[in-house]
Amino acid sequence: MSGDLDGIELREGIDIARIDELLAFYEREWWTQGRERADIERMLVGSDAVVAAVELDSGELAGFVRALSDGAFRSTIFDLIVARAWQGRGLGRALVERILATPALERCRRTDLVCREDMAAFYESLGFERSASDQIRMEWTRG
Ligand SMILES: CC(C)(COP(=O)(O)OP(=O)(O)OC[C@H]1O[C@@H](n2cnc3c(N)ncnc32)[C@H](O)[C@@H]1OP(=O)(O)O)[C@@H](O)C(=O)NCCC(=O)NCCS
Repeated sequence: MSGDLDGIELREGIDIARIDELLAFYEREWWTQGRERADIERMLVGSDAVVAAVELDSGELAGFVRALSDGAFRSTIFDLIVARAWQGRGLGRALVERILATPALERCRRTDLVCREDMAAFYESLGFERSASDQIRMEWTRG
């Protein structure tokens, strides 16, 4: 990596030994709080692409992103998180670009994600567009 990201390595996959670091990331964010270790382990096995950013000096997790993909038509990005100390230096952008280039996503015609309104400009700067306004998102939650 160059510029502000000197000292960071992006790696496909994440070592299960980093699960505590990932748990700490998840505890900080509103949509991932309360996730349990066993479920996170299942989630990592079930994800089609995972990219971890590692700070080489400390060996610590600096960023994370994952995705599900059918390999051809559709994929969805989840859980983009950058460690506070690394925010604003291009790592979030680098993680999205890298996961779009992983084998699971690189041939997908469409990749989507869900975000809050205040994140839209960030994703637009990466080439994402708002979904057509006549489409809505439906969800079913296990009770
Ligand atoms: C959102 C997040 C991943 C961005 O990572 P980052 O490494 O700080 O972002 P970058 O440095 O790559 O920023 C890239 C660009 O997006 C902009 N940007 C970053 N966060 C933004 C935000 N919340 N809203 C609008 N623009 C934003 C930056 O200003 C930068 O613009 P530039 O290239 O013109 O300078 C990081 O702030 C984070 O982990 N936040 C908490 C978790 C979260 O909200 N994740 C997103 C869930 S949808």
